[in-house]
Amino acid sequence: MAYYTEALDFFPQAYLQELRTQIMKSQFLAKNNLNGDFVGTRGFSIVFRRSAMDAVKQRFPWAAPYMDALLDPACNAFYLNPLVLGAASRVDPHIDRSLRSYCKTVETPVVVSVLYVALPADLRGGELVLRRGKSQVGRIVPVANKVVRFQGDLTHLVTPVAPDVAGERLSLVCEQYALEPRDLASIPELGLESKGAALEMGGTPAPRRGRRG
Ligand SMILES: [Fe+2]
Repeated sequence: MAYYTEALDFFPQAYLQELRTQIMKSQFLAKNNLNGDFVGTRGFSIVFRRSAMDAVKQRFPWAAPYMDALLDPACNAFYLNPLVLGAASRVDPHIDRSLRSYCKTVETPVVVSVLYVALPADLRGGELVLRRGKSQVGRIVPVANKVVRFQGDLTHLVTPVAPDVAGERLSLVCEQYALEPRDLASIPELGLESKGAALEMGGTPAPRRGRRG
């Protein structure tokens, strides 16, 4: 595939509104559990194998249309992450490998999907920059209801949101992996990461996350 693809007006408006409502009121939305590359962001993460897709949809009905439309059939493990950036938030350059805390040898995702759910009317900054090595291969301006899919081995960052922007930039990101059976076995069937803790749902506690990518 190209480094990335973009699609506008992806979902019905009613779904975007529902997503925004459900995510912003979620008990799991807290200061981000992601590492220090994520400055001033909030979010939580649902980790799951393909075999738990129905359970995820049952537990998080708001995720179902996103999963149906955007999960790659070739992938078998997913890291679904609502991400909220406000004034002066940014994400420093990194390569996604959020499953690394479960499996040290994990490869990068095949693809990462991003849906822009809601954006401040006066948003400046908050652009997604994609790099291959040192060269920039994409610069994506957020637009509500735009979907971006980019190659999972690209370095990427989010430019700082201007400090005087009111409101929040909410996106729903999914790292999508095609893992070998041995690596897949070390990923929780269905787990939740919130506020620095990893809570495996209905199983033994999962390890705390390490630094990623
Ligand atoms: Fe990322």
